[in-house]
Amino acid sequence: MQHASPTPADLTINPRNLMFGRGRTCDRWWIGGDPVATAFYNGMSLTFPLGEAFFIESVRHFRDAVPPAQQAQIDAFIKQEAAHSREHSHFNRQIQDAGYDVSVIESELAQRLAKAKDRHPALNLAMTVALEHFTAIIAHACLKSPRHFKGASSEAARLWKWHAMEEIEHKAVAFDTFLEVTKGLPAFKRWKFRSLVMLQVSNFFLRARIRNMGVFFDQDGINKPGTWLRTMWYLLGYPGLLRQIIPAWLSFFRPGFHPWLQDDRALLREAEATLDLPMSPKTGAASGGVR
Ligand SMILES: [Fe+2]
Ligand SMILES: [Fe+2]
Repeated sequence: MQHASPTPADLTINPRNLMFGRGRTCDRWWIGGDPVATAFYNGMSLTFPLGEAFFIESVRHFRDAVPPAQQAQIDAFIKQEAAHSREHSHFNRQIQDAGYDVSVIESELAQRLAKAKDRHPALNLAMTVALEHFTAIIAHACLKSPRHFKGASSEAARLWKWHAMEEIEHKAVAFDTFLEVTKGLPAFKRWKFRSLVMLQVSNFFLRARIRNMGVFFDQDGINKPGTWLRTMWYLLGYPGLLRQIIPAWLSFFRPGFHPWLQDDRALLREAEATLDLPMSPKTGAASGGVR
């Protein structure tokens, strides 16, 4: 049975292609001097350049299998993710300039992603769908509450806000591609496929978050039980990012789930208004068309 996508017909996916932090340095503990918060976001940033390249390849593989309007959205998605990769590569250099050795995180991820070549493209796409859900719901939580980036250096906060906005904007591109290329499957099989992949990806995603934080704690000389207790409080208590995303994570397992069943474009527009963009956000936007 064909699934009509709830993606809003007037959705605009606008690759803003901004640059952040050029010619600047970043404090070692750039979120309010907090090594726990910094380790969490540093650990995530280090996965973006390679991770988003994987997302791009997974979705691009099926570009010719979807209708032209969806192809335009894929093109805009690719532009956004490519700019995110570039800006997080720069941010990751700032992390290294602050004195951290991040090679173990990067090489471990590279090894893991190298296996993608041998996997079925539909499995890579389903993994991208799951990871894009994570990025979208984390982005939503981050934009909704200023407490997540309280005390962050302003340029770093702008980078993460920009990234969060665009993750919300393109949150259904991989999902809609998945719906299109699996439309011949019975609904139950399709649900089972994406749900099992989500469980596997969630396991990997959470373990990677914790492992990567440990790499920073080691180098800060604070890899101790007390730091991990603080980490648990940070993630599940206050500001509690992981706790906040649990309902949205669970919603993925509902039959008939679609990312746009929650329309959070108002949140995105609010964030954009505070970003002080150097160019018109409407210029070159991609919805039905593409820049
Ligand atoms: Fe991204
Ligand atoms: Fe994304």
